[in-house]
Amino acid sequence: MDTQTQLRAAADRAYSMPLEQIDPSDPTLQQDDTHAPYFARLREEDPIHHTADSLFGPFWSVTRYDDIMHVEMNPQLFSSDSRRGGIIIMDSNAAASLPMFIAMDPPKHDEQRKVVSPVVAPENLARMSGLIRQRTADTLDSLPINQTFDWVPSVSINLTTKMLATLFDFPFEERQLLTYWSDVTTALPGTGVIDSEEHRMAELGKCSEYFLRLWNERVNAEPKPDLISMLAHSEKTRNMPPDEYLGNVLLLIVGGNDTTRNTMSGSVLALNRFPDEYRKLCANPQLLESTAVPEFVRWQTPLAHMRRTATQDTELHGKRIRAGEKVVMWYVSSNREPGKFNDPGSLQLDRENARQHQSFGFGIHRCVGNRLAELQVRILWEEILKRWPEPGQIEVIGEPQRLCNPFVRGYSSLPVRINA
Ligand code: HEM
Repeated sequence: MDTQTQLRAAADRAYSMPLEQIDPSDPTLQQDDTHAPYFARLREEDPIHHTADSLFGPFWSVTRYDDIMHVEMNPQLFSSDSRRGGIIIMDSNAAASLPMFIAMDPPKHDEQRKVVSPVVAPENLARMSGLIRQRTADTLDSLPINQTFDWVPSVSINLTTKMLATLFDFPFEERQLLTYWSDVTTALPGTGVIDSEEHRMAELGKCSEYFLRLWNERVNAEPKPDLISMLAHSEKTRNMPPDEYLGNVLLLIVGGNDTTRNTMSGSVLALNRFPDEYRKLCANPQLLESTAVPEFVRWQTPLAHMRRTATQDTELHGKRIRAGEKVVMWYVSSNREPGKFNDPGSLQLDRENARQHQSFGFGIHRCVGNRLAELQVRILWEEILKRWPEPGQIEVIGEPQRLCNPFVRGYSSLPVRINA
């Protein structure tokens, strides 16, 4: 079935099935990229929707922008705490059950967030931007011309893994381990990376050993501005138990890796779907300083959702949510809400309110690394435009392979040809 036929069939199904049977967490909806009509129907007919039975148990879906804002802004009512269930829909994922500051409530969340935030402070970003540009230029200059290759490993994974190695001051020649542990953390068992939760935790045991070695080296050395040294030397984190250290390491690995990687791949795909926007960008590269990068992040929405757990009985849009129930905020839906974004499925690099997307979350957990992610994507496109300033020069050849995952919205492969 070609893509258009598949999308039409999905729309028919989404609007003909009984409302209560809609399960937006079905990972194949992301894999086939057929989720949009299901979310459109939910936004219209049942914006706070209950799914009684899914791969991940019962849960509530919050599908509209303003309702997501309400959940984000009330962390005392909608908790992120891993002991209540954490921040993703899959509460069976043993890695996500580890203590880490994204899955903590105040005050401990705020204390630990403060420890790592300086790594992405404006002066640090300014310091790193030369290195990011050099690596980006070298990577682009090494790509094959007039031949098909896979953009995902060659560019997106390559650049984000190098960035992560720099943030951790991780042994550079072994940096592929970071990508591997990121994939191990987020993959659904049986989809190619890990077979089971036991397998996941066995592989992450090796990650833990590796990072404990780095901690031991750095805790006895002078403090340095890398993430491990920061955690090892701060009064708020230096006595963390090993599982909390592993949790925070995995948070930073996944946070810094999967998300930016999939924005980079998504931006190439988006500009192929909307070639007029490539023309617009070539004519006005200044857009990269204003709305183009946030628009890539909105269009891709690299994390489809974040999850919370209700701490007490409450009401949302007339629906009664009970204490302990799982509440999933679908950014992939709110970023496509027609009332908020004009013609939301399209890429518009000069979209005035692009920066209002919800891909980075909101409130106390809003993404720490958002400016670093934007910097990397901006530099990537600045360097691409220097080399290939004509629409169609980076051509997507065939369909991308998407992840079968209700959390990370991304690509395992994107065949591309540079025409020069
Ligand atoms: C939190 C998305 C890049 C580190 C988050 C959250 C989202 C997100 C949705 C949770 C927000 C919430 O619950 O309200 C993204 C996207 C990125 C990206 C879409 C790229 C396009 C990065 C990078 C880093 C990073 C590059 C690290 C250098 C973190 C951390 C948190 C976080 C540490 C936890 C913040 C907290 O709980 O206070 N991110 N992220 N992210 N992100 Fe990112």
